[in-house]
Parts: sequence; C-alpha cells; structure tokens
Amino acid sequence: MQRDRRQFLASVGALAAATACDEPANPAAPKPSEPAPDRSPEPAPWAAPGTLDSLAFPGGVRAGDATSDGAILSVRTTEPTIDLLVMVAAADGWEEVARHDGLTPVEGNVQFELEALASDSAYAAVFLAGDRRSATVRFRTAIPSGGWRKVVFAATSCLGSADPSWASLAEIASFDPDFTLLLGDTVYADGSLTAEDYRAEWERAFANESLQALFARSSLIATWDDHEVANNWVRSEGDLLHTAVTDEQLATATTVFRDALPMRVGPGGNGLWRKLGWGVVDVFVLDSRGERSKGKIVSDEQLAWLQEELHASEAAFKIIMASVHVTDHYDLMSTGAADDRWQGYPAQRDALIAAIVEVAGVFVVTGDMHYGGVQRIDPEGGPAADRWEIAAGPAGSSLFPLSAVAQIGGDGVPAQYDAVIEDWTSCLFVADPGLGTLTVQFIGNDGGIRAERTLSA
Ligand SMILES: [Fe+2]
Repeated sequence: MQRDRRQFLASVGALAAATACDEPANPAAPKPSEPAPDRSPEPAPWAAPGTLDSLAFPGGVRAGDATSDGAILSVRTTEPTIDLLVMVAAADGWEEVARHDGLTPVEGNVQFELEALASDSAYAAVFLAGDRRSATVRFRTAIPSGGWRKVVFAATSCLGSADPSWASLAEIASFDPDFTLLLGDTVYADGSLTAEDYRAEWERAFANESLQALFARSSLIATWDDHEVANNWVRSEGDLLHTAVTDEQLATATTVFRDALPMRVGPGGNGLWRKLGWGVVDVFVLDSRGERSKGKIVSDEQLAWLQEELHASEAAFKIIMASVHVTDHYDLMSTGAADDRWQGYPAQRDALIAAIVEVAGVFVVTGDMHYGGVQRIDPEGGPAADRWEIAAGPAGSSLFPLSAVAQIGGDGVPAQYDAVIEDWTSCLFVADPGLGTLTVQFIGNDGGIRAERTLSA
C-alpha cells in the first residue's frame, strides 16, 4: 500500500496534538507548542542516464552515515573502474553537482565519501561504467545544528528467512526517510569463516528487491548484532549456546561488514559506536556485541562516551540505537537469556539507566528479539518506568511469540508492554521538536499500520 507522504506528515501533527498524554519528564524541557515544519519537498525520483546493469553492479548502492555536509557511498562491481555522478535536488528537478571518474574497486567494492554537500538537502547518485549504470540512490544530508523541522526516520532489524520477502522494507522506503536505522542481524552469516563466505551472505541479502528499494531511497545508519559474525558469538571458548570466533575471523567479518554498509569510524574502541547528528535528533549508535567481556555488555570506554554524549546533547530527541534490548524483561521472562541483553549486565545497565533518567528526550530503539514493541524500560516502580524503548523488526526472521510466553506465567502480557506486534514489520518514526513528540508506526508487509503510538520527549 502506497500512502501519500504529505498526508501522513500532516496527520502526524494533528494526531500528536490529540494523543500526547505525558508531561515532559524534565521540567526544563520546552512545553509542547506548535508543530515543527515538514522538510522541504523533493522532486520526483531522478531518472539517471544509461542502462541499468545489475550484473556489473549487483545489490544496488548504499549511502551511509549522512552528516550535514557529506555521506559515504558503497557499491559492489565487477568492472575494473567506474565513475560516480552526483545530483542535488533543485526547485525544478535534479542538477549535477559532482562527478568522480576512474574509481578503482578493492576486492570488488568501491566506497566513496562525498564531502562539501549542502545541509538538509536531497541528493541522488549513480555509479557508471560507460553507458551502463548501477541502481540510483537518493538520500538527504542532515539538518545542521540549530535547524528546526520534523525528522522522518525508519528502523528495522533481523532480515531472516522465515519471511524472505522483507516487504516492509519497501513500504518504509516509500516515505523517503531522512535515514534508516539498521539495528543488526541484517545478514545471518552463521557458519561463515572466510571473506568469501561473508561476502556471499551480504550479496545474497542485497539481491532482495525490498532491501534494494530501501537502499534506493534512504541513507543508512547501521550497527550489528551477533549474526553478522556468528550466532551468539564469543571470543572465548564456545559452548552449546555460543560460537567461539577467533580474532582473525572477527577481523574478516568486520571488514566485510564495513564494506557492505558504509559507516564512519567512531571515536574509540573498535570504531563502531558513534554519534550522528540531525539537528533536533542525535543518534547514538552502540555496539552491544563486539566489545563484550566478563560482566560487561560494552566496554567501559563506550559506556563513558555514551553517558557523556547524552548529557552534552542539545538535541530535543536522543535516540540510543542498540541491537539488543535495554528493557528489564524480568516480569515477562525472568532471567532467561538475560546475558543476551542489557538486563544481564546490571552494573552497566544501572549506569545507563541513570543517564537515561537524568537527560530529557531519550528514547531507546532496538532489534534482536523478533517482535515489535513499545515498552517501558523498567517495570512499574523502576527508575525508567516512564521511559520508552521501541523494539523494531523483525523484517523477516522467525517471530517471537511474546504473548504466548506471557501466558506461561498465567497473567498475560504485563502492562509494561504498551504495544506488542507479533508480525513482520519495520518502523516509521516522526520526531516533532515543536510538539516534543515521537510518533512511531509499525508498518507491515502489506503497508498496513499494525500499531501506532505517540510518545512525549
Ligand atoms: Fe535476529
């Protein structure tokens, strides 16, 4: 189902005004007032020159980690050299702004960082080999610091094989998101060892038409979960539930991951955790997998960085993007598999919760658990009982039967879970700094809205 984007954006403003029920938790936060403006309209999709050659450019073009003046593009190609053509949206269509010729692939991959772009503008790009071309990619540069408008972004996770259509990805793409969060388990590369193994998994995923539709119409902000490397991987000795990986295998998987999904290098650790600023929205990308050690789900360095950046952020919305849940699921499933989420690391979780509670406008967006949800981070009485985590996806992995699990205890789904979606969905968000609201829709494979909530920052 294709819906009219302007109609959606307009309805969100009215809906948010009607349904926002919580007072801002921080009395210093601005009171809801007027809806912020929508972003400037964009021309119809760019019709690139040349003939699409999906054999020479398999899997489309990815744009990643857009900033207010740049973005990184990534493409796989069988050609020895390729050219890049970049267009910017203008009042009456698309204008050429840059051309970069003679790009040479490394291991069949080209990544190119675009710089000196205009802020909060729509761009389109294509890679060329003579008169043949890749798929096109459309993306927006970020809102500059001090900018003021609604931000429309998407999120998904767990692109597994239980429903291989991943059709919700094409549905969220139709809204031309400002950016899309890939929350992890984008591939299930379990059993891979060599670079060829890992590349084959990414190429298989990138052959999916719904994912290609998403690549064509949104930049990405990506993190990983376990399956980009191995199922529940650990660097120590494996066991029945955990797969041991060597440093060499991890390095290989990391290289292929970074080749596949263009992303910037963060300020410390393994370089995966980082911040992307969109003016009124700051996105804090966590790596909840790659820096685990005994009793710790992230490195001390990563946690300290997050605490510091949350407190320093002046954005109305602070989105913590984590592959695994921060929510305390004890009332639903006790401590089952708690070591696979923040709940199993109480000292670090307590420190994170303290920051979430102290800072206004924090939301957590996660994947991994194969249900969609809007849930209170702590059960009633807990410090973060009035703070929200949005569980996004799965786009295609086997569904987690949360309501059936809840029945085992006999009481049904606890009140902590405000919305539970047991279907394949991806999320569409509208952050409105004027009203101070974050609206989330869970969009199914048919484009229908499975659930919608409006939360106050
Ligand atoms: Fe998964």
